[in-house]
Amino acid sequence: MERDFILILDFGSQYSHMIARRIRDIGVYTLLYHYNEISISHIISKKKPKGLILSGSHFSVYEKGSPLIEKKFFKLNIPILGICYGMQLISFLFGGEIKKSKYKEYGKSCLIIDHPKNNLFYGIPDKSIVWMSHFDEVKNVPKEFKVIGHTSSCDIAALSHFNKEIYAVQFHPEVKNTEYGISMLKNFVFHICKCSPNWELNNFLQNTIDDIKKRVDKKKVLLGFSGGVDSFVSAYIIRKAIGNSLNCIFVDTGLLLKDEKKRISSLCKKMHFPIKIINAKNHFLSKLTGIVDPEIKRKVIGKEFIYIFQKESEKIKNVEFLAQGTIYSDIIESSVLSKNLISNSIKSHHNVGGLPTTLMKLKLIEPLKKLFKDEVRKIGEKLGVPKEILYRHPFPGPGFGIRIIGEINEHKISILKEAENILLQELKNYDIYNSVSQAFIILLPVKSVGIKGDKRTYEYAAILRVINTEDFMTSTFTHLSYDFLEKVSNRITNEIDGINRIAYDITSKPPSTIEWE
Ligand code: XMP
Repeated sequence: MERDFILILDFGSQYSHMIARRIRDIGVYTLLYHYNEISISHIISKKKPKGLILSGSHFSVYEKGSPLIEKKFFKLNIPILGICYGMQLISFLFGGEIKKSKYKEYGKSCLIIDHPKNNLFYGIPDKSIVWMSHFDEVKNVPKEFKVIGHTSSCDIAALSHFNKEIYAVQFHPEVKNTEYGISMLKNFVFHICKCSPNWELNNFLQNTIDDIKKRVDKKKVLLGFSGGVDSFVSAYIIRKAIGNSLNCIFVDTGLLLKDEKKRISSLCKKMHFPIKIINAKNHFLSKLTGIVDPEIKRKVIGKEFIYIFQKESEKIKNVEFLAQGTIYSDIIESSVLSKNLISNSIKSHHNVGGLPTTLMKLKLIEPLKKLFKDEVRKIGEKLGVPKEILYRHPFPGPGFGIRIIGEINEHKISILKEAENILLQELKNYDIYNSVSQAFIILLPVKSVGIKGDKRTYEYAAILRVINTEDFMTSTFTHLSYDFLEKVSNRITNEIDGINRIAYDITSKPPSTIEWE
Protein backbone atom coordinates (compact mmCIF):
# COMPACT_ATOMS: atom_id res chain seq x y z
CA MET A 1 0.00 0.00 0.00
CA GLU A 2 1.87 3.09 -1.17
CA ARG A 3 -0.58 5.81 -0.30
CA ASP A 4 -0.86 7.46 3.11
CA PHE A 5 -3.65 6.06 5.19
CA ILE A 6 -4.94 5.83 8.74
CA LEU A 7 -5.57 2.46 10.31
CA ILE A 8 -8.49 2.20 12.71
CA LEU A 9 -8.57 -0.64 15.18
CA ASP A 10 -12.12 -1.52 16.03
CA PHE A 11 -12.92 -2.83 19.49
CA GLY A 12 -16.56 -3.43 18.76
CA SER A 13 -18.04 0.03 18.72
CA GLN A 14 -20.79 0.63 16.23
CA TYR A 15 -19.28 4.07 15.65
CA SER A 16 -15.82 2.98 14.45
CA HIS A 17 -16.82 3.06 10.81
CA MET A 18 -18.00 6.63 11.33
CA ILE A 19 -14.41 7.60 12.19
CA ALA A 20 -13.29 5.90 8.98
CA ARG A 21 -15.86 7.82 6.96
CA ARG A 22 -15.11 11.18 8.47
CA ILE A 23 -11.42 10.83 7.71
CA ARG A 24 -12.17 9.80 4.14
CA ASP A 25 -14.41 12.84 3.90
CA ILE A 26 -11.40 15.01 4.67
CA GLY A 27 -9.51 13.29 1.86
CA VAL A 28 -7.41 10.59 3.49
CA TYR A 29 -7.84 6.87 2.93
CA THR A 30 -8.73 4.76 5.98
CA LEU A 31 -8.87 1.07 6.72
CA LEU A 32 -10.82 -0.42 9.57
CA TYR A 33 -9.71 -3.67 11.16
CA HIS A 34 -11.09 -5.64 14.00
CA TYR A 35 -8.45 -5.34 16.74
CA ASN A 36 -7.29 -8.93 16.62
CA GLU A 37 -7.60 -9.31 12.90
CA ILE A 38 -4.26 -7.66 12.24
CA SER A 39 -0.87 -8.26 13.85
CA ILE A 40 1.82 -5.73 14.65
CA SER A 41 4.22 -7.44 12.26
CA HIS A 42 1.64 -7.23 9.49
CA ILE A 43 1.20 -3.54 10.20
CA ILE A 44 4.94 -2.95 10.11
CA SER A 45 5.74 -5.01 7.05
CA LYS A 46 2.64 -4.71 4.88
CA LYS A 47 0.25 -2.01 5.89
CA LYS A 48 2.47 0.82 7.05
CA PRO A 49 -0.19 3.29 8.16
CA LYS A 50 0.72 6.91 8.91
CA GLY A 51 -1.37 6.85 12.05
CA LEU A 52 -3.43 4.58 14.23
CA ILE A 53 -6.79 5.20 15.86
CA LEU A 54 -8.07 3.03 18.70
CA SER A 55 -11.83 3.13 18.63
CA GLY A 56 -14.60 2.68 21.16
CA SER A 57 -16.15 -0.44 22.64
CA HIS A 58 -19.06 -1.36 24.85
CA PHE A 59 -16.61 -3.16 27.16
CA SER A 60 -14.85 -1.90 30.25
CA VAL A 61 -11.11 -2.50 30.22
CA TYR A 62 -11.24 -4.55 33.44
CA GLU A 63 -14.12 -6.71 32.26
CA LYS A 64 -13.49 -10.37 31.56
CA GLY A 65 -13.01 -10.83 27.81
CA SER A 66 -12.54 -7.12 27.13
CA PRO A 67 -10.67 -6.39 23.91
CA LEU A 68 -7.04 -5.58 24.70
CA ILE A 69 -3.94 -5.05 22.62
CA GLU A 70 -0.27 -5.52 23.44
CA LYS A 71 1.69 -2.52 24.63
CA LYS A 72 4.04 -3.16 21.69
CA PHE A 73 1.57 -1.25 19.53
CA PHE A 74 2.89 1.92 21.11
CA LYS A 75 6.37 1.15 19.85
CA LEU A 76 5.23 1.29 16.23
CA ASN A 77 6.53 4.82 16.11
CA ILE A 78 3.45 6.22 14.48
CA PRO A 79 0.99 8.69 16.02
CA ILE A 80 -1.88 7.13 17.94
CA LEU A 81 -5.26 8.56 18.89
CA GLY A 82 -7.53 6.75 21.35
CA ILE A 83 -11.24 7.56 21.27
CA CYS A 84 -13.55 6.72 24.21
CA TYR A 85 -12.70 3.10 25.06
CA GLY A 86 -9.48 3.71 23.09
CA MET A 87 -8.58 6.40 25.65
CA GLN A 88 -9.31 4.10 28.57
CA LEU A 89 -7.27 1.37 26.95
CA ILE A 90 -4.27 3.65 26.45
CA SER A 91 -4.51 4.85 30.05
CA PHE A 92 -4.85 1.31 31.36
CA LEU A 93 -1.89 0.03 29.34
CA PHE A 94 0.27 2.90 30.59
CA GLY A 95 -0.59 2.23 34.20
CA GLY A 96 -3.51 4.62 34.73
CA GLU A 97 -6.68 3.68 36.55
CA ILE A 98 -10.18 3.53 35.12
CA LYS A 99 -13.35 4.00 37.12
CA LYS A 100 -17.08 3.85 36.57
CA SER A 101 -18.47 7.35 36.07
CA LYS A 102 -21.07 8.42 38.63
CA TYR A 103 -23.59 8.61 35.83
CA LYS A 104 -23.47 7.20 32.36
CA GLU A 105 -22.65 10.37 30.48
CA TYR A 106 -24.47 10.56 27.19
CA GLY A 107 -24.93 13.65 25.08
CA LYS A 108 -23.49 17.12 24.79
CA SER A 109 -20.82 18.45 27.17
CA CYS A 110 -18.66 21.52 27.14
CA LEU A 111 -14.98 20.71 26.61
CA ILE A 112 -12.55 23.09 28.24
CA ILE A 113 -9.14 22.89 26.69
CA ASP A 114 -6.32 23.01 29.26
CA HIS A 115 -3.48 23.07 26.72
CA PRO A 116 -4.54 25.20 23.77
CA LYS A 117 -1.12 24.76 22.18
CA ASN A 118 -1.49 20.99 21.98
CA ASN A 119 -1.33 19.85 18.33
CA LEU A 120 -4.65 18.02 18.61
CA PHE A 121 -6.40 21.27 19.49
CA TYR A 122 -4.74 23.54 16.97
CA GLY A 123 -7.19 26.32 15.96
CA ILE A 124 -9.93 25.12 18.31
CA PRO A 125 -11.56 27.55 20.79
CA ASP A 126 -10.91 27.00 24.50
CA LYS A 127 -14.53 26.02 25.06
CA SER A 128 -16.60 23.97 22.65
CA ILE A 129 -19.35 21.37 22.55
CA VAL A 130 -18.35 17.70 22.43
CA TRP A 131 -20.42 14.51 22.33
CA MET A 132 -19.93 12.06 25.18
CA SER A 133 -21.14 8.48 25.41
CA HIS A 134 -19.51 6.50 28.19
CA PHE A 135 -19.92 4.85 31.55
CA ASP A 136 -16.21 4.44 32.38
CA GLU A 137 -13.62 7.18 32.59
CA VAL A 138 -9.95 7.64 33.43
CA LYS A 139 -9.48 8.07 37.18
CA ASN A 140 -5.71 8.47 37.48
CA VAL A 141 -3.64 9.87 34.68
CA PRO A 142 -0.79 7.54 33.68
CA LYS A 143 2.64 8.92 34.56
CA GLU A 144 3.79 9.73 31.06
CA PHE A 145 0.63 11.68 30.18
CA LYS A 146 -0.87 15.09 30.86
CA VAL A 147 -4.49 16.19 30.89
CA ILE A 148 -5.21 18.49 27.95
CA GLY A 149 -8.96 18.91 28.36
CA HIS A 150 -11.81 18.45 30.83
CA THR A 151 -15.57 18.95 31.12
CA SER A 152 -17.70 19.86 34.13
CA SER A 153 -18.45 16.20 34.82
CA CYS A 154 -15.29 14.56 33.50
CA ASP A 155 -11.97 15.81 34.87
CA ILE A 156 -9.93 13.87 32.37
CA ALA A 157 -11.59 14.30 28.99
CA ALA A 158 -8.41 14.45 26.88
CA LEU A 159 -4.82 13.32 27.35
CA SER A 160 -1.55 13.49 25.52
CA HIS A 161 1.80 11.81 26.06
CA PHE A 162 4.66 14.04 27.22
CA ASN A 163 7.06 13.09 24.46
CA LYS A 164 5.35 10.67 22.12
CA GLU A 165 2.62 11.34 19.57
CA ILE A 166 -0.06 9.58 21.61
CA TYR A 167 -3.36 11.34 22.19
CA ALA A 168 -6.63 10.26 23.73
CA VAL A 169 -10.10 11.75 24.01
CA GLN A 170 -13.08 10.57 26.03
CA PHE A 171 -15.58 12.24 23.71
CA HIS A 172 -16.41 11.37 20.10
CA PRO A 173 -14.85 13.70 17.53
CA GLU A 174 -16.43 11.64 14.71
CA VAL A 175 -19.98 12.54 15.79
CA LYS A 176 -21.46 15.62 14.14
CA ASN A 177 -22.54 17.04 17.51
CA THR A 178 -18.90 17.53 18.47
CA GLU A 179 -18.55 21.09 17.24
CA TYR A 180 -14.87 20.92 16.29
CA GLY A 181 -14.63 17.15 15.84
CA ILE A 182 -13.65 17.37 12.19
CA SER A 183 -10.98 19.97 13.02
CA MET A 184 -9.55 17.63 15.68
CA LEU A 185 -9.48 14.75 13.22
CA LYS A 186 -7.85 17.01 10.63
CA ASN A 187 -5.25 18.06 13.19
CA PHE A 188 -4.50 14.43 13.93
CA VAL A 189 -4.42 13.31 10.31
CA PHE A 190 -2.61 16.26 8.70
CA HIS A 191 -0.59 17.98 11.44
CA ILE A 192 0.27 15.02 13.60
CA CYS A 193 0.36 12.07 11.17
CA LYS A 194 1.45 14.27 8.25
CA CYS A 195 -0.78 12.51 5.73
CA SER A 196 -1.28 14.03 2.32
CA PRO A 197 -4.81 14.12 0.97
CA ASN A 198 -5.16 11.18 -1.38
CA TRP A 199 -8.70 9.85 -1.30
CA GLU A 200 -10.48 11.16 -4.31
CA LEU A 201 -13.40 9.38 -5.86
CA ASN A 202 -12.47 10.26 -9.45
CA ASN A 203 -9.15 8.48 -9.12
CA PHE A 204 -10.84 5.60 -7.40
CA LEU A 205 -13.29 5.21 -10.26
CA GLN A 206 -10.69 5.23 -13.03
CA ASN A 207 -8.37 2.85 -11.15
CA THR A 208 -11.24 0.47 -10.46
CA ILE A 209 -12.29 0.45 -14.11
CA ASP A 210 -8.70 -0.19 -15.23
CA ASP A 211 -8.25 -3.00 -12.68
CA ILE A 212 -11.45 -4.77 -13.73
CA LYS A 213 -10.51 -4.49 -17.41
CA LYS A 214 -7.14 -6.08 -16.73
CA ARG A 215 -8.46 -8.77 -14.44
CA VAL A 216 -11.40 -9.91 -16.54
CA ASP A 217 -9.57 -9.69 -19.85
CA LYS A 218 -11.53 -11.80 -22.36
CA LYS A 219 -13.63 -13.65 -19.80
CA LYS A 220 -17.22 -12.98 -18.81
CA VAL A 221 -18.78 -11.63 -15.62
CA LEU A 222 -22.13 -12.54 -14.12
CA LEU A 223 -23.79 -9.94 -11.90
CA GLY A 224 -26.73 -10.58 -9.60
CA PHE A 225 -28.76 -7.46 -9.98
CA SER A 226 -31.03 -6.43 -7.11
CA GLY A 227 -32.20 -3.11 -8.47
CA GLY A 228 -30.70 -1.29 -5.49
CA VAL A 229 -28.06 1.43 -5.52
CA ASP A 230 -25.09 -0.83 -4.92
CA SER A 231 -25.80 -3.35 -7.63
CA PHE A 232 -26.72 -0.61 -10.12
CA VAL A 233 -23.51 1.33 -9.51
CA SER A 234 -21.43 -1.87 -9.62
CA ALA A 235 -23.04 -2.78 -12.93
CA TYR A 236 -22.30 0.66 -14.36
CA ILE A 237 -18.65 0.47 -13.34
CA ILE A 238 -18.17 -3.03 -14.69
CA ARG A 239 -19.92 -2.22 -17.92
CA LYS A 240 -17.61 0.74 -18.38
CA ALA A 241 -14.68 -1.64 -17.97
CA ILE A 242 -15.77 -4.62 -20.06
CA GLY A 243 -18.88 -3.61 -22.00
CA ASN A 244 -21.01 -6.54 -23.15
CA SER A 245 -18.93 -9.14 -21.35
CA LEU A 246 -21.07 -8.26 -18.34
CA ASN A 247 -24.17 -10.43 -17.93
CA CYS A 248 -26.74 -9.14 -15.44
CA ILE A 249 -29.49 -11.27 -14.03
CA PHE A 250 -32.38 -10.12 -11.92
CA VAL A 251 -34.15 -12.75 -9.86
CA ASP A 252 -37.83 -12.17 -9.29
CA THR A 253 -38.28 -13.94 -5.98
CA GLY A 254 -41.90 -12.86 -5.72
CA LEU A 255 -40.90 -11.23 -2.43
CA LEU A 256 -40.40 -7.81 -3.96
CA LEU A 257 -42.19 -4.46 -3.99
CA LYS A 258 -45.24 -4.06 -6.20
CA ASP A 259 -44.31 -3.77 -9.90
CA GLU A 260 -40.62 -4.08 -9.11
CA LYS A 261 -39.94 -6.40 -12.04
CA LYS A 262 -41.68 -3.99 -14.45
CA ARG A 263 -39.84 -1.02 -12.97
CA ILE A 264 -36.45 -2.66 -13.24
CA SER A 265 -36.95 -3.87 -16.78
CA SER A 266 -38.19 -0.52 -18.04
CA LEU A 267 -35.35 1.33 -16.28
CA CYS A 268 -32.81 -1.04 -17.79
CA LYS A 269 -34.38 -0.67 -21.23
CA LYS A 270 -34.31 3.11 -20.93
CA MET A 271 -30.63 3.00 -20.08
CA HIS A 272 -29.79 0.36 -22.70
CA PHE A 273 -28.75 -1.96 -19.97
CA PRO A 274 -29.30 -5.58 -20.95
CA ILE A 275 -30.63 -7.70 -18.15
CA LYS A 276 -32.04 -11.21 -17.94
CA ILE A 277 -35.01 -11.64 -15.65
CA ILE A 278 -35.45 -14.97 -13.94
CA ASN A 279 -38.97 -15.74 -12.78
CA ALA A 280 -38.47 -17.71 -9.61
CA LYS A 281 -41.56 -16.69 -7.68
CA ASN A 282 -43.08 -20.13 -7.37
CA HIS A 283 -39.75 -21.68 -6.66
CA PHE A 284 -39.06 -19.39 -3.68
CA LEU A 285 -42.58 -19.70 -2.36
CA SER A 286 -42.50 -23.48 -2.41
CA LYS A 287 -39.15 -23.54 -0.59
CA LEU A 288 -40.47 -21.18 2.08
CA THR A 289 -43.77 -22.89 2.72
CA GLY A 290 -44.12 -23.98 6.32
CA ILE A 291 -40.99 -22.15 7.53
CA VAL A 292 -41.49 -19.83 10.47
CA ASP A 293 -38.02 -19.28 11.93
CA PRO A 294 -36.43 -16.06 10.61
CA GLU A 295 -32.92 -17.43 10.39
CA ILE A 296 -34.05 -20.52 8.51
CA LYS A 297 -36.03 -18.31 6.12
CA ARG A 298 -32.93 -16.20 5.49
CA LYS A 299 -30.80 -19.29 4.87
CA VAL A 300 -33.34 -20.86 2.52
CA ILE A 301 -33.58 -17.66 0.48
CA GLY A 302 -29.79 -17.29 0.34
CA LYS A 303 -29.37 -20.85 -0.82
CA GLU A 304 -31.94 -20.41 -3.59
CA PHE A 305 -30.11 -17.34 -4.87
CA ILE A 306 -26.89 -19.34 -5.03
CA TYR A 307 -28.63 -22.17 -6.79
CA ILE A 308 -30.04 -19.81 -9.44
CA PHE A 309 -26.74 -18.02 -9.96
CA GLN A 310 -24.94 -21.31 -10.30
CA LYS A 311 -27.45 -22.55 -12.87
CA GLU A 312 -27.28 -19.32 -14.84
CA SER A 313 -23.52 -19.20 -14.81
CA GLU A 314 -23.43 -22.64 -16.39
CA LYS A 315 -25.35 -21.24 -19.34
CA ILE A 316 -22.79 -18.53 -20.09
CA LYS A 317 -19.69 -19.55 -22.00
CA ASN A 318 -16.41 -18.40 -20.57
CA VAL A 319 -17.88 -16.93 -17.40
CA GLU A 320 -15.24 -16.74 -14.73
CA PHE A 321 -16.39 -14.01 -12.36
CA LEU A 322 -19.35 -13.18 -10.17
CA ALA A 323 -19.82 -9.48 -9.48
CA GLN A 324 -21.40 -8.32 -6.26
CA GLY A 325 -22.41 -4.93 -4.95
CA THR A 326 -20.75 -5.48 -1.57
CA ILE A 327 -19.87 -2.19 0.12
CA TYR A 328 -17.43 -1.47 2.93
CA SER A 329 -20.05 -1.43 5.67
CA ASP A 330 -21.18 -4.95 4.62
CA ILE A 331 -17.61 -6.09 5.11
CA ILE A 332 -17.24 -4.32 8.45
CA GLU A 333 -20.58 -5.60 9.66
CA SER A 334 -19.90 -9.19 8.73
CA SER A 335 -16.41 -8.97 10.20
CA VAL A 336 -17.71 -7.50 13.44
CA LEU A 337 -20.43 -10.13 13.60
CA SER A 338 -18.17 -13.01 12.71
CA LYS A 339 -15.62 -11.98 15.31
CA ASN A 340 -18.31 -12.27 17.91
CA LEU A 341 -17.85 -8.70 18.99
CA ILE A 342 -21.48 -7.81 18.99
CA SER A 343 -22.96 -11.22 18.56
CA ASN A 344 -22.42 -13.73 15.85
CA SER A 345 -26.05 -14.49 15.66
CA ILE A 346 -28.00 -11.27 15.25
CA LYS A 347 -29.01 -12.01 11.68
CA SER A 348 -27.40 -13.78 8.81
CA HIS A 349 -27.47 -10.76 6.53
CA HIS A 350 -27.20 -11.35 2.92
CA ASN A 351 -28.13 -9.59 -0.22
CA VAL A 352 -27.42 -10.21 -3.82
CA GLY A 353 -24.20 -8.45 -2.96
CA GLY A 354 -23.25 -10.64 -0.05
CA LEU A 355 -24.00 -14.25 -0.71
CA PRO A 356 -21.81 -17.01 0.68
CA THR A 357 -19.88 -17.46 -2.52
CA THR A 358 -17.77 -20.28 -1.18
CA LEU A 359 -20.58 -22.35 -2.63
CA MET A 360 -19.77 -21.08 -6.10
CA LYS A 361 -16.86 -21.73 -8.39
CA LEU A 362 -16.69 -18.19 -9.70
CA LYS A 363 -14.12 -15.61 -8.66
CA LEU A 364 -15.46 -12.46 -7.05
CA ILE A 365 -15.48 -8.92 -8.36
CA GLU A 366 -16.60 -6.33 -5.84
CA PRO A 367 -15.93 -2.87 -7.24
CA LEU A 368 -17.48 -1.04 -4.29
CA LYS A 369 -16.02 -3.00 -1.44
CA LYS A 370 -13.87 -0.08 -0.25
CA LEU A 371 -16.71 2.44 -0.30
CA PHE A 372 -19.31 3.62 2.16
CA LYS A 373 -22.88 4.16 0.99
CA ASP A 374 -22.59 7.91 0.52
CA GLU A 375 -19.41 7.37 -1.51
CA VAL A 376 -21.27 4.85 -3.68
CA ARG A 377 -23.92 7.48 -4.33
CA LYS A 378 -21.29 10.06 -5.25
CA ILE A 379 -19.70 7.62 -7.69
CA GLY A 380 -23.17 6.83 -9.06
CA GLU A 381 -23.75 10.53 -9.69
CA LYS A 382 -20.47 10.80 -11.54
CA LEU A 383 -21.51 7.86 -13.71
CA GLY A 384 -24.90 9.37 -14.47
CA VAL A 385 -26.97 6.77 -12.62
CA PRO A 386 -30.49 8.25 -12.33
CA LYS A 387 -31.31 9.89 -8.99
CA GLU A 388 -34.43 7.74 -8.57
CA ILE A 389 -32.08 4.77 -8.25
CA LEU A 390 -29.33 6.41 -6.24
CA TYR A 391 -31.68 7.68 -3.56
CA ARG A 392 -33.96 4.67 -3.31
CA HIS A 393 -34.42 3.30 0.17
CA PRO A 394 -32.54 0.06 0.74
CA PHE A 395 -34.52 -3.11 0.32
CA PRO A 396 -33.22 -6.29 1.96
CA GLY A 397 -32.14 -9.22 -0.23
CA PRO A 398 -34.62 -11.62 1.45
CA GLY A 399 -37.37 -9.04 0.75
CA PHE A 400 -40.84 -9.76 2.08
CA GLY A 401 -39.48 -13.05 3.33
CA ILE A 402 -38.34 -11.17 6.44
CA ARG A 403 -41.18 -8.62 6.56
CA ILE A 404 -43.92 -11.20 6.81
CA ILE A 405 -43.42 -12.44 10.33
CA GLY A 406 -43.78 -16.18 10.60
CA GLU A 407 -45.07 -18.27 7.77
CA ILE A 408 -45.23 -16.83 4.28
CA ASN A 409 -47.98 -17.42 1.75
CA GLU A 410 -49.21 -15.83 -1.44
CA HIS A 411 -52.11 -14.06 0.24
CA LYS A 412 -49.85 -12.40 2.81
CA ILE A 413 -47.39 -11.38 0.08
CA SER A 414 -50.14 -9.69 -1.91
CA ILE A 415 -51.43 -7.85 1.16
CA LEU A 416 -47.97 -6.60 2.05
CA LYS A 417 -47.25 -5.52 -1.54
CA GLU A 418 -50.31 -3.29 -1.54
CA ALA A 419 -49.62 -1.92 1.94
CA GLU A 420 -46.02 -1.00 1.13
CA ASN A 421 -47.16 0.53 -2.11
CA ILE A 422 -49.57 2.82 -0.28
CA LEU A 423 -46.86 3.81 2.17
CA LEU A 424 -44.44 4.68 -0.65
CA GLN A 425 -47.11 6.68 -2.47
CA GLU A 426 -47.88 8.69 0.63
CA LEU A 427 -44.22 9.30 1.46
CA LYS A 428 -43.93 10.80 -2.00
CA ASN A 429 -47.24 12.70 -1.78
CA TYR A 430 -46.12 14.26 1.49
CA ASP A 431 -42.68 14.87 0.01
CA ILE A 432 -40.88 13.07 2.81
CA TYR A 433 -39.49 10.04 0.94
CA ASN A 434 -36.06 11.63 0.66
CA SER A 435 -35.91 12.88 4.22
CA VAL A 436 -36.34 9.44 5.77
CA SER A 437 -33.80 6.66 5.42
CA GLN A 438 -36.09 3.67 5.13
CA ALA A 439 -39.81 3.03 5.38
CA PHE A 440 -41.74 -0.19 5.17
CA ILE A 441 -44.52 -2.32 6.62
CA ILE A 442 -44.27 -5.49 8.65
CA LEU A 443 -47.12 -7.94 8.48
CA LEU A 444 -47.72 -9.66 11.80
CA PRO A 445 -49.06 -13.19 12.17
CA VAL A 446 -51.61 -11.73 14.58
CA LYS A 447 -55.24 -11.06 13.74
CA SER A 448 -57.57 -8.72 15.54
CA VAL A 449 -61.25 -7.95 15.45
CA GLY A 450 -62.30 -4.85 13.61
CA ILE A 451 -65.23 -3.32 11.84
CA LYS A 452 -65.39 -2.27 8.21
CA GLY A 453 -68.63 -0.98 6.68
CA ASP A 454 -70.72 -2.28 9.57
CA LYS A 455 -69.24 -5.72 9.23
CA ARG A 456 -67.05 -7.55 11.68
CA THR A 457 -63.56 -8.23 10.38
CA TYR A 458 -60.90 -10.50 11.70
CA GLU A 459 -57.76 -9.43 9.90
CA TYR A 460 -54.01 -9.05 10.27
CA ALA A 461 -52.31 -6.32 12.26
CA ALA A 462 -49.43 -4.54 10.54
CA ILE A 463 -46.61 -2.35 11.76
CA LEU A 464 -45.39 0.81 10.12
CA ARG A 465 -41.62 1.23 10.41
CA VAL A 466 -39.99 4.49 9.34
CA ILE A 467 -36.46 5.26 10.45
CA ASN A 468 -33.64 7.71 10.05
CA THR A 469 -30.03 6.73 10.13
CA GLU A 470 -26.66 7.74 8.79
CA ASP A 471 -25.26 4.29 8.40
CA PHE A 472 -27.94 1.65 9.14
CA MET A 473 -25.84 0.33 12.03
CA THR A 474 -27.88 2.44 14.43
CA SER A 475 -31.17 4.20 13.78
CA THR A 476 -33.96 6.20 15.36
CA PHE A 477 -37.64 6.12 14.47
CA THR A 478 -38.81 9.08 12.45
CA HIS A 479 -41.01 11.67 14.14
CA LEU A 480 -43.78 11.63 11.56
CA SER A 481 -46.77 13.94 11.73
CA TYR A 482 -50.05 12.53 13.03
CA ASP A 483 -51.60 13.72 9.82
CA PHE A 484 -49.29 11.49 7.77
CA LEU A 485 -49.73 8.55 10.14
CA GLU A 486 -53.47 8.89 9.97
CA LYS A 487 -53.47 9.08 6.19
CA VAL A 488 -51.36 5.94 5.79
CA SER A 489 -53.32 4.04 8.40
CA ASN A 490 -56.67 5.03 6.87
CA ARG A 491 -55.63 4.15 3.36
CA ILE A 492 -54.16 0.78 4.27
CA THR A 493 -57.06 -0.34 6.42
CA ASN A 494 -59.68 0.98 3.99
CA GLU A 495 -58.13 -0.15 0.74
CA ILE A 496 -56.68 -3.50 1.70
CA ASP A 497 -58.74 -6.51 2.60
CA GLY A 498 -56.64 -8.35 5.11
CA ILE A 499 -55.33 -5.56 7.37
CA ASN A 500 -57.56 -3.84 9.90
CA ARG A 501 -55.02 -2.48 12.37
CA ILE A 502 -51.80 -0.45 12.09
CA ALA A 503 -49.27 0.40 14.80
CA TYR A 504 -46.19 2.59 14.51
CA ASP A 505 -42.86 1.15 15.65
CA ILE A 506 -41.16 3.69 17.92
CA THR A 507 -38.01 1.79 18.82
CA SER A 508 -34.44 2.72 18.01
CA LYS A 509 -31.66 0.42 16.90
CA PRO A 510 -30.24 -0.70 19.26
CA PRO A 511 -32.05 -2.22 21.13
CA SER A 512 -34.19 -3.25 18.15
CA THR A 513 -32.98 -3.80 14.61
CA ILE A 514 -34.42 -2.09 11.56
CA GLU A 515 -36.11 -5.13 10.04
CA TRP A 516 -38.12 -7.31 12.40
CA GLU A 517 -36.60 -10.62 11.35
P1 XMP B 1 -31.16 -4.56 10.41
O1 XMP B 1 -32.50 -5.18 10.36
O2 XMP B 1 -30.05 -5.56 10.55
O3 XMP B 1 -30.97 -3.89 8.99
O4 XMP B 1 -31.06 -3.46 11.41
C1 XMP B 1 -29.99 -2.95 8.61
C2 XMP B 1 -30.19 -2.63 7.15
O5 XMP B 1 -29.92 -3.78 6.37
C3 XMP B 1 -31.07 -4.18 5.65
N1 XMP B 1 -31.09 -5.63 5.72
C4 XMP B 1 -30.64 -6.38 4.73
N2 XMP B 1 -30.18 -6.04 3.53
N3 XMP B 1 -29.90 -8.31 3.05
C5 XMP B 1 -29.85 -7.01 2.67
O6 XMP B 1 -29.50 -6.72 1.53
C6 XMP B 1 -30.34 -8.72 4.25
O7 XMP B 1 -30.36 -9.90 4.55
C7 XMP B 1 -30.74 -7.71 5.14
N4 XMP B 1 -31.26 -7.72 6.39
C8 XMP B 1 -31.46 -6.42 6.73
C9 XMP B 1 -32.24 -3.53 6.33
O8 XMP B 1 -33.32 -3.35 5.44
C10 XMP B 1 -31.61 -2.24 6.78
O9 XMP B 1 -31.53 -1.32 5.71
